[in-house]
Amino acid sequence: MEIILRKATPEDKEKTIWVESQSTPNLSYVPHVWDMFINDKEGDWSVESVDGELAGCGKYSILPDGSAWLETLRVIPQRQGLGLGKRLYEHWLKLSEEKGVKTMRMYTGINNAVSSGLAERYGLSTVETFHGVKMEAKPFKTEHSFKRITDVEEATELLLPLGEQWGNWIVLNRTYYKWSPAMCKWLTEKDMVYKDDDGNVVVMGARFMADYQLHIGLFHGDAKTCLDFAKANAANIGVKSIHCLYPQRFNEIEKQLLDNKFVMEPAPFIVKEINL
Ligand SMILES: CC(C)(COP(=O)(O)OP(=O)(O)OC[C@H]1O[C@@H](n2cnc3c(N)ncnc32)[C@H](O)[C@@H]1OP(=O)(O)O)[C@@H](O)C(=O)NCCC(=O)NCCS
Repeated sequence: MEIILRKATPEDKEKTIWVESQSTPNLSYVPHVWDMFINDKEGDWSVESVDGELAGCGKYSILPDGSAWLETLRVIPQRQGLGLGKRLYEHWLKLSEEKGVKTMRMYTGINNAVSSGLAERYGLSTVETFHGVKMEAKPFKTEHSFKRITDVEEATELLLPLGEQWGNWIVLNRTYYKWSPAMCKWLTEKDMVYKDDDGNVVVMGARFMADYQLHIGLFHGDAKTCLDFAKANAANIGVKSIHCLYPQRFNEIEKQLLDNKFVMEPAPFIVKEINL
């Protein structure tokens, strides 16, 4: 049996989408991120074949803080247990060494023993457990106005002290970013930072699929005012749903979200990390 790992090419698109549909039937985003992944010059988007047939894929992304984010690891059920996942982890460790990357992180569902065990085999360990909430986006209006912060310095000064209230994490599209000045800059440049005259702050947007989902990364101040603003924003853009993830130890954030009609995701998520 010949297992080959190589960089994805444009011709692999259809087959890779098929690999995802077989491996995670309830989670499909490769069609939406394909162009972003294949054009990522800093990171790596690889596929794996067994005897010439595409059977797996995995993405290595460099986040604004310089850490590596391991994502979209998929192996079709018929080819699981053959070492394709391990091959990708070995590839990613090598990439980190070459690029001088000092931290690698990944996430998985709390009940995904294989994904979790595979990460642990390569030295990653759980650093945080997250809960998530979501809501269907519906027509919504609010009179209250926020303004977008476009100045990086102003945004960084505003946001940095707030990170701690969220465990120094910010989650968009299930990408778990660590809070840092570089992250504040990235969020500002992506037009995600808003504040009002009363000191309320909302960070929201999307890493990808911005037309489908709105992700609330952080809110601070009066929860209802902030979340109403997010709901109105979601209605304006026309997304299907609104999402927010936060460390499970932040019970107050959870309560505020549930009080504002968000519903819990069925199971928690864990983030694992290795410092190289
Ligand atoms: C998770 C996944 C990518 C693993 O890929 P794979 O090619 O089957 O994995 P490999 O054969 O390379 O490695 C298996 C390793 O996982 C670990 N593992 C397997 N089953 C395990 C279990 N029940 N408990 C703990 N660890 C386990 C072991 O370390 C094992 O290696 P070892 O037997 O040599 O120690 C694959 O199962 C998959 O695509 N699942 C569905 C999608 C998914 O969950 N993706 C993960 C991100 S959400």
